[in-house]
Amino acid sequence: MTGRPAVTVRVPAKVNVQLAVGGARPDGFHDLANVFLAVGLYDEVTAAPAESLRVTATGPDTDRVPLDRTNLAARAAELLAARRGIAPDVHLHIAKDIPVAGGMAGGSADAAGALVACDALWGTGASREELLEICAELGSDVPFSLVGGAALGRGRGELLTPLEVGGTFHWVFAVADGGLSTPAVYAEFDRLTEGVDVPAPEASPALLDALRAGDAVALGAALSNDLQPAALSLRPSLAATLAAGGAAGALAGLVSGSGPTTAFLVEDVEAAGAVADALVGSGTCRGVRVAAGAVPGAVVV
Ligand code: C5P
Repeated sequence: MTGRPAVTVRVPAKVNVQLAVGGARPDGFHDLANVFLAVGLYDEVTAAPAESLRVTATGPDTDRVPLDRTNLAARAAELLAARRGIAPDVHLHIAKDIPVAGGMAGGSADAAGALVACDALWGTGASREELLEICAELGSDVPFSLVGGAALGRGRGELLTPLEVGGTFHWVFAVADGGLSTPAVYAEFDRLTEGVDVPAPEASPALLDALRAGDAVALGAALSNDLQPAALSLRPSLAATLAAGGAAGALAGLVSGSGPTTAFLVEDVEAAGAVADALVGSGTCRGVRVAAGAVPGAVVV
């Protein structure tokens, strides 16, 4: 096994163009209508032969990435190895470019990447179906990181239906200081909706039409995130970032997933540059990233 060449897998970030959240289920999760779009910001996960399971990471803010077995990438290797009755002896190196704990599925991307990389390194030959099953065990967003493109996630987000995308959508992402914990944001959602009859989450037909047509103006009008009030409640400074992106000419802006990254949909590459510059100048965020989507999911490079 130690003679095998290392395998590198590239995995994209996501933005939720719609995140409709239902009430808390008995298992503590929330039923979702979660419309994912994969965008061209990537982590790369390399799996190399090793004496035992080890995780390393390089890139911005990797001091906040756990390098022990709580890292989702390590758990992915362990789950696949356990299914085959082999030892999860692998060195996983994560070259991070997706904001850490930013609401862009960076940890999920690393898990999907590690799974595909270990499967190739170990020659375990998992089917797409089995990979998706393991992804769902790892986390609600991990199956989407594997498949990429655009998809509607039902259940807790793991039951995917691929969606047609009729054009390229351009985005500017404003990176905030620090991260937000996804469970904390869902808990705040529960607190804010206490006593409210939360409707069953449904995908917006107008939003799905806009994606299919590649119509950025229509998509901008339909963007929505039910977690945004909770993210703003925990991080009130995000309101200034959203206002700055709107004033800079973005078609629309919203909190990405559970935040604290904010996402601004723009008309084209030129508009992306202008909005990015204005956001940097506004002093309301730590940095900006420009990316377009949809892009494919996890691929061996
Ligand atoms: O599935 P994942 O491990 O990414 O979820 C992290 C946390 O986010 C869960 O423990 C839960 O608190 C919350 N969550 C939720 N409903 C979902 C997805 C996540 O409440 N559909």
